[in-house]
Amino acid sequence: MTKKILNQNDIINTEIINSYDLDCIFSDNPINRVKKEPLILSKVEQLRKLREKIRNIEDCELKNNATKIVFADGNIDSPIMIVGEGPGQKEDELGKPFMGDAGMLLNKMLKAININRENVYITNVVNFRPPNNRKPESYEITKYSSFLKNHISIINPKILILMGSTAMESLFGSKNKISKERGNWKEVIISNKTFCTMITFHPAYLLRQADQKKYSWMDLKKIRNKIDELGINF
Ligand code: URA
Repeated sequence: MTKKILNQNDIINTEIINSYDLDCIFSDNPINRVKKEPLILSKVEQLRKLREKIRNIEDCELKNNATKIVFADGNIDSPIMIVGEGPGQKEDELGKPFMGDAGMLLNKMLKAININRENVYITNVVNFRPPNNRKPESYEITKYSSFLKNHISIINPKILILMGSTAMESLFGSKNKISKERGNWKEVIISNKTFCTMITFHPAYLLRQADQKKYSWMDLKKIRNKIDELGINF
């Protein structure tokens, strides 16, 4: 091995160096003390930035009519991420998703498969309450879908649950029918990462159509099986 001695001449005795079996090479390149390391933001920082981006959205009827942003709720390190449609009145008041009747049913649905709400991460397709609780328009779903994709990438869940047709449209487009798509595991690719995804009925729909709960229960059992198969512990 060649040992190159540079910039050390005055202080290092070659003989001493050679007497050690050093397998390193001294470099005469100046040390770059102002070198910039790539900036790696923590999950909390990334979420804060995303929230700020959404809060600053422009030309948005949803934002202009809402009281406050409803960003997310739950455990940011959860392996399970749930996506609903958008905030209603209660959520708009409290600034948290799924706080009203649909939220209570969601909590029960999770409990039925042994999951506590605090252990999952919950967000919506749109983060501001649509006027009169109307369904978000397709152009609004598209506008917010880049935020949602970014949100999913940051949380990086092992299982993604899309509740209702708006959540399905946000990631799969508007051509699909939820009655056909629900209940099957699908893959969603976001920034080169594949997310294991289940589309299922929205709790608010189940409150109106109780006869559909049997399908929801089938989906929930599949979700529980996947959790066990992946060895996810809460
Ligand atoms: N319905 C949703 O889709 N999200 C909420 O946050 C509340 C009701």
